[in-house]
Amino acid sequence: MSKASAPGKLILFGEHFVVYGLPAIATAIEARTTVGVEKADKYSLEDNRPETPGYKTEKYGQQLDSIKRIFKAMRINPDKTPVKIALGGNLMAASGIGASAASCSAIAAALNDYFGLGLDKETLNGIAYEGEKGYHGVPSGIDNSCSTFGGFIWFKKDQANNTITPLGLQLSLSIVIGNTGITSNTTKIVGEVKQQKEANPEKFNVIFDIYSSLVNDARAAIEKKDLDGIGKLMNKNHGLLREIGVSCKEIEELVDIALKNGALGAKLTGTGRGGLVIALVNEEDARKVATAFERAGYRAEMTKIGAEGVRVE
Ligand code: PMV
Repeated sequence: MSKASAPGKLILFGEHFVVYGLPAIATAIEARTTVGVEKADKYSLEDNRPETPGYKTEKYGQQLDSIKRIFKAMRINPDKTPVKIALGGNLMAASGIGASAASCSAIAAALNDYFGLGLDKETLNGIAYEGEKGYHGVPSGIDNSCSTFGGFIWFKKDQANNTITPLGLQLSLSIVIGNTGITSNTTKIVGEVKQQKEANPEKFNVIFDIYSSLVNDARAAIEKKDLDGIGKLMNKNHGLLREIGVSCKEIEELVDIALKNGALGAKLTGTGRGGLVIALVNEEDARKVATAFERAGYRAEMTKIGAEGVRVE
């Protein structure tokens, strides 16, 4: 039996702006998907991950395709060397949290260990990326890079080649995630932002310029481990996201609650118009912010970012 685990991810800076080639910073979160691989008479898959209702059924076909791609990339023939793959852990199988990438990365690492292939992290990341294609067609690669390398990842989309640079520092930050309970449609909202941009090019140019210097400051603040600085820049980033029209009443309420209860900064993460809000907190304030979210009727989760990447357990 071999076992491996890999973390999910959040976008800390740059959702939406990343679509237009501006840099983003993503980070691994503490919650992980675990994968066990063991000998079996016949290949089988068991998925015990907690989930947003309906998620696993909806993604089942893509999951099978993804695992087939991983086997192929690793030159493993599951008919000749059958194994049972079992998924578990505390990372929610849900949208926007890098669940598919975490599973791909952990499956690749567990198979690597079980078959004694001796592959390094770069190679495992490439295999996880192949697996991600089963879910996302042409993925950006940011999610699997977070799951594999962990920590903080600097990412820039490019026509030819995406830049994916692990910032390579040890920094664990406490955050509270507030959940609006609203599932948003990424394709639709990305399309609406594009329309807005075409209708107001000058406004968007100004916002893009502000964001471009903000994200460089954010990278510097992370590298200096300047929590107050990171928090302030999260607030600024959120302001820009609000201006491009991807916030909503529930997100604003969560951001407001977080800041009133001592968060160093708060912003939406991912697509927006629903989904999740992240609040950066000093560890001792995490419970207070989480309770305040819950009192207002939202689900809250206290976790850490900058978590360790894929590992054999
Ligand atoms: O909601 P998520 O975590 O899948 O993030 C979407 C991020 C966007 O920038 C809005 C879209 C994208 O493809 O980068």
